[in-house]
Amino acid sequence: RVNISILTDFLIKLMKLPISFFATKTTGDIMQRMSDQQRIEGFLTGTSLNTLFSLINLVIFTFVLIHFNTTIFLISFGATLLYLFWILAFLSKRRELNHKQFLNSSTNQTTVVELVQGMTDIKLNNCEQQKRWEWELVQATMFKFKVSSLSLTQYQQAGSMFINQAKNILITFLSVKAVIDGDMTLGGMMAIQYVVGQVSNPVDRIVGFIQSYQDAKISLERLNEIHDLQDEEPVEKHLIGKLPEKKDLLIKNLSFKYPGAGNDPVLKNLNMSIPQGKITAIVGESGSGKTTILKVLMRSFEPQSGGIRIGDKKLDQIALKTWRNSFGAVTQEGYIFADTVVGNI
Ligand SMILES: Nc1ncnc2c1ncn2[C@@H]1O[C@H](COP(=O)(O)OP(=O)(O)O)[C@@H](O)[C@H]1O
Ligand SMILES: [Mg+2]
Repeated sequence: RVNISILTDFLIKLMKLPISFFATKTTGDIMQRMSDQQRIEGFLTGTSLNTLFSLINLVIFTFVLIHFNTTIFLISFGATLLYLFWILAFLSKRRELNHKQFLNSSTNQTTVVELVQGMTDIKLNNCEQQKRWEWELVQATMFKFKVSSLSLTQYQQAGSMFINQAKNILITFLSVKAVIDGDMTLGGMMAIQYVVGQVSNPVDRIVGFIQSYQDAKISLERLNEIHDLQDEEPVEKHLIGKLPEKKDLLIKNLSFKYPGAGNDPVLKNLNMSIPQGKITAIVGESGSGKTTILKVLMRSFEPQSGGIRIGDKKLDQIALKTWRNSFGAVTQEGYIFADTVVGNI
């Protein structure tokens, strides 16, 4: 249930974002953020309870070990600290890898979605090979990344193994020596081996906990990046829920450029009026900005300067819901849902 409510909240927020957000973010980015939250689920459901029991185990067996032999306890304690530091030292690198992994996966998702959705155009324009190569390039990048992240994991594991094995050998040596010198019974030695094992088990669990906590935290940060974005229509803004009597549209000194770096202004100081009750046609060459005017009128995008008035009101004072309720639009890139004709209408 937590899982679904995290996703639902995300979707609710997503639907409140301005249309321009979807013009700049890729499909893969959004999909990856959503599938990433499985890590939050995994963290909440899997590791937390286990770790709690492990901690209890750790405390009890630590006391038993102190009672048995203080030197061996100190060695075990020192090695455990070293192990924890070793793992903690890798956390920032893990975060970096997680970030790269996110970028890779979202690029991959975007590529696949584009391949499937654009298949008709790919085939009609004979560019199957080009598109397949693009896809293969993405796969090659992902493969290289996997190799580099695997080597990091191996460094981490080799270090952990070295610390733990060194500890075990040292403890075995000391306890065997104690038995030979007659300071410890053979049974005592066996008991110490067992207790040391019981102490290191929970430590491994705690390490797993730290790592999955980090993964969950990063995923949550990614979801929050979206939650922190400004809504298309902030609730605190006072908006008019009804269109004025006179509905002439007047565009004054309007300038607009599409969001994203390097885009030139499409509309520059545009002035025009669209009288109520008449049919107005906008004609012009392809690429002159006809569709853009409509997108600004539909308030899919905010103009950078200038404004639109409807009758005696400014258009941005009207609630979006009211405004969008009062027009119908069939866009060039209209989306057909996997539904019946009636459902689509
Ligand atoms: N989403 C977009 N991002 C950046 N530039 C765009 C976008 N859509 C259109 N443009 C640019 O804006 C200009 C006007 O486009 P458009 O309004 O679609 O023209 P028209 O509908 O008159 O053919 C074109 O130069 C086009 O390249
Ligand atoms: Mg057009």
